[in-house]
Amino acid sequence: MSRVIAVANQKGGIGKTTTAVNIAYDLAEMGRRVLLIDTDGQCNSTDTCRARVEGVATLYDLLFEHEKAEECIQHMEKLDVIASDKLLKNPETKFPDDATRLFTMRDACEEIREQYDFIVIDTPPSLGCMLSNALTFADEVVIPVTCDRYGMEGINDLYVTINATKKYTNRNLRVTGVLLNKYKERTTLCREISNGLPEVLKMFDTTVFDTKVRECEDCKKAQSARMSVQAYNSSCSTAKDYWRVCEEIIGR
Ligand SMILES: Nc1ncnc2c1ncn2[C@@H]1O[C@H](COP(=O)(O)OP(=O)(O)OP(=O)(O)O)[C@@H](O)[C@H]1O
Ligand SMILES: [Mg+2]
Repeated sequence: MSRVIAVANQKGGIGKTTTAVNIAYDLAEMGRRVLLIDTDGQCNSTDTCRARVEGVATLYDLLFEHEKAEECIQHMEKLDVIASDKLLKNPETKFPDDATRLFTMRDACEEIREQYDFIVIDTPPSLGCMLSNALTFADEVVIPVTCDRYGMEGINDLYVTINATKKYTNRNLRVTGVLLNKYKERTTLCREISNGLPEVLKMFDTTVFDTKVRECEDCKKAQSARMSVQAYNSSCSTAKDYWRVCEEIIGR
């Protein structure tokens, strides 16, 4: 049985792409068959994985040109990728009606789903139709949040979207957990936020990952080098943390 995991939070820059890419690579490194789908028109995870956007079939072709999923898969060294496309920056107008808007990705990926142990979906910083498509297809959601004053901003709105998805299009969707990212061990603020988080999340009936992903410079450098942080420097703190996050995901 494959597990489809969407990494989601409409807040920008909090580590969705970093989380999606690194858990995808680590799960692959752990011997799992992994497909990463980039649904964000910014194409950041496509780029980090060194997948192509020109001269290949992308997620755009899958969703709007009736291309078969198999034809959109790029086989990279460790994992498979369905690349995003700059044409997906404003997708709202392209879906002809609500049913298509919500179910397209799930239906288009039906035939490839069981080829993988994990399908990881990177999502854009908005509550729009790409997120709805991803949540309708997904079994689970991982929600990265940053460990700062505004890190939890908008989390209510994200849960409204998740709950609407559960009600209307995907009854079995569950939140794998909230993942604290950019954690600075020595700061009081981080500790306070971390300690208070389970209480804040009680109303959403959600747990927090035991592992916090620490902030580390090599994480940024890995993204610039278009590598997973594990491949860039397996002994840095972020690499160790994402590895533990994957162990938690497998155990959940
Ligand atoms: N644990 C970390 N340590 C250091 N830097 C990090 C960490 N996590 C993310 N970053 C950096 O923060 C920036 C934003 O991360 P990322 O692109 O993953 O966010 P995002 O939520 O996908 O952004 P967007 O909403 O634009 O898609 C990047 O420069 C990334 O390298
Ligand atoms: Mg991103």
